[in-house]
Amino acid sequence: MKTIVLYYSLGGNTKAEAERIAQEENAELCEVQELKKRNPLSAVFSGCPQAMQRKASAIQPLKCDLSVYDRIFIGCPIWAGFPAPAFNAILHLLPRDKEVSLFFCSAGGEEPRSQQGTKDLIAQKGCKLISYCDIRTASNKKTK
Ligand SMILES: Cc1cc2nc3c(=O)[nH]c(=O)nc-3n(C[C@H](O)[C@H](O)[C@H](O)COP(=O)(O)O)c2cc1C
Repeated sequence: MKTIVLYYSLGGNTKAEAERIAQEENAELCEVQELKKRNPLSAVFSGCPQAMQRKASAIQPLKCDLSVYDRIFIGCPIWAGFPAPAFNAILHLLPRDKEVSLFFCSAGGEEPRSQQGTKDLIAQKGCKLISYCDIRTASNKKTK
């Protein structure tokens, strides 16, 4: 099975987790970068409202071809209780019929409504959700 770990990270926590998963799964690793460079202020004032409305940010073209993988891990930080807007941009590029594993890094957890909404979006893409992992980076606690 060909596997890739695709991730967006602003502060490095999701990147560290993505690297760990890629090693564990013997998978390739691909970083997603936004077109416009983020800083903490733009993350709060434009990124958080976008995240809450599940809007996509503009991202650079992917350096990988998602169609050749059977299983795709997607990792992102949680902003304002929801996946950061780069996650929504990744969803637009997700091919159908893939096995998908999600992991989200947050300080204390996501908005309760967020998880089911995110799972529904994967189903709407015609993909099969294999696992969902919520990683609390403040305490390094994981919930599945
Ligand atoms: C703009 C912004 C909003 C955030 N909102 C939340 C939040 O709502 N809930 C939470 O638990 N953590 C929140 N965090 C913390 C991050 O989700 C957490 O530190 C995560 O590990 C960051 O991942 P990264 O280092 O890969 O960017 C927020 C961080 C930023 C920068």
